[in-house]
Amino acid sequence: MAFALNQLRVPIIQAPMAGGVNTPALAAAVTNAGGLGSFGFAYSSPQKISDDLGAAKQLTAGPINANFFVFHPVATPSVELQHHSIAALKRLPIAQDLKLLPPEPPYFPDIHAMLEPVWLHRPAVLTFHFGLPAPEVLERARLAGICVGVSATCLAEGHAIEAAGADFVIAQGIEAGGHRGTFEPDMLDEDLPTLTLVRQLSAALRIPVVAAGGLMTGGDVSLAMAAGAAAAQMGTAFLVCDESGATPAHKHFLLTKPTRGTVFTHAFSGRRAQGLRNEFIEVMHGQPHLPFPLQNTLTSHLRQMAVQHNDGEHQSLWAGRAYAQARPMGAQRLMAVLEQEYLKGASIRENP
Ligand SMILES: Cc1cc2nc3c(=O)[nH]c(=O)nc-3n(C[C@H](O)[C@H](O)[C@H](O)COP(=O)(O)O)c2cc1C
Repeated sequence: MAFALNQLRVPIIQAPMAGGVNTPALAAAVTNAGGLGSFGFAYSSPQKISDDLGAAKQLTAGPINANFFVFHPVATPSVELQHHSIAALKRLPIAQDLKLLPPEPPYFPDIHAMLEPVWLHRPAVLTFHFGLPAPEVLERARLAGICVGVSATCLAEGHAIEAAGADFVIAQGIEAGGHRGTFEPDMLDEDLPTLTLVRQLSAALRIPVVAAGGLMTGGDVSLAMAAGAAAAQMGTAFLVCDESGATPAHKHFLLTKPTRGTVFTHAFSGRRAQGLRNEFIEVMHGQPHLPFPLQNTLTSHLRQMAVQHNDGEHQSLWAGRAYAQARPMGAQRLMAVLEQEYLKGASIRENP
C-alpha cells in the first residue's frame, strides 16, 4: 500500500534542504523517531542521490522523502547583463581575485537522470519545488506506489497541484527559509503567512496540506494542525541539529545572532530566497544578477571559498524568520522534545 501522511506517528517532516544540509543520519533519525526525513537533491548528481538514498535505507526501514527542483527553461542572458552581473560580484572583497565566468549551457541538471535512482530505491515520498513535474513523472510515481507532494505559495498553485493528481500540497508561508516555491520566478508573490495559506488551501482542496514556514516548536505544529494541516514541515529547526550538514558558520550565525534577522534576496541564485542578513546580501542589494539558476552557478565558486574560510558573511545562510528559536541538539532528542510539546499543545486545544 502506498504511503500516506496520516501514517506518520509524529506529524513532522524534516524539510528537504539542498546544499549538503540533509545527511542520511539526519533524515534517518527523524524517520526513526516517527516523523519523515527528507533529502533536498536540487543539484545533486544521480550517483550522490543513489548513495544518499542507499545510505538512509541502511539506517531506517521507515519512509524517506526525496525532493527535487522543477527547473524552467531559461534563455541565455545578454552579454551586457552577464558583464554587469559579474561586475556587481567583483565589488565584494572576496571576489576580487576570483575568475568569474558566465555559465554555459546546459544551465541545470537533467531531471530524468536524477530520478533514475528514485525509481530504483523507491523512497516512500517524492516532492517538488518551483512547479509541477511532467505528467509522465507523476504517472511513474503512481505506478511505483510513491506518494507525491508539491510546494504551493498561493491558492491558485494549490488548485493546479490538486488538478495534476499530486497526493498532497506543501503550503509554504512567507516565514519559510530558503527559496520561495512560486511556480514562476517573476510572478507577483502574495507573501501569505503560513497559517493563512494552510487555512485557504485546506478549505479549498481535498488533498492533505502540509504547513511549512516559521514552525519551530511542537506548539507551533499543533497550531498548524488546528489550522487544517495534516503535518508540519520544519527546516530551520533541524539546521542546527548535530547530524545537520549545515556549514559551521551557518550554525554559528543561527545560534549567536538572534537579532540580525532574515531578508529576501535574488543575489545568490537568481530566485527569491530568505536567509540571514549578511554582507553579501547588503552589498548586492539592488545590483544586477543573472536569472535562476545561472546566478547560482556564477556565485558557486565564491560561496565555496566563503565556506572554506568559515566566512559567514559571503555564503548563503538560508533561514526561516523564527530562526532565533532554533535549539541545537541531536535529531532524535529534538524529535522527542517536539513530540512532547505537540501532544501538550494538542491536548490543551482539546481540553481547554
Ligand atoms: C537551508 C534551507 C534549504 C532549503 N532547501 C530546499 C529544497 O532544496 N527544496 C525545498 O523544497 N525546500 C527547501 N527549503 C524550504 C523548506 O522546504 C521549508 O519550506 C522551510 O524550511 C520551512 O520554513 P522554516 O525554515 O521556517 O522551517 C529550504 C530551506 C532551508 C532553510
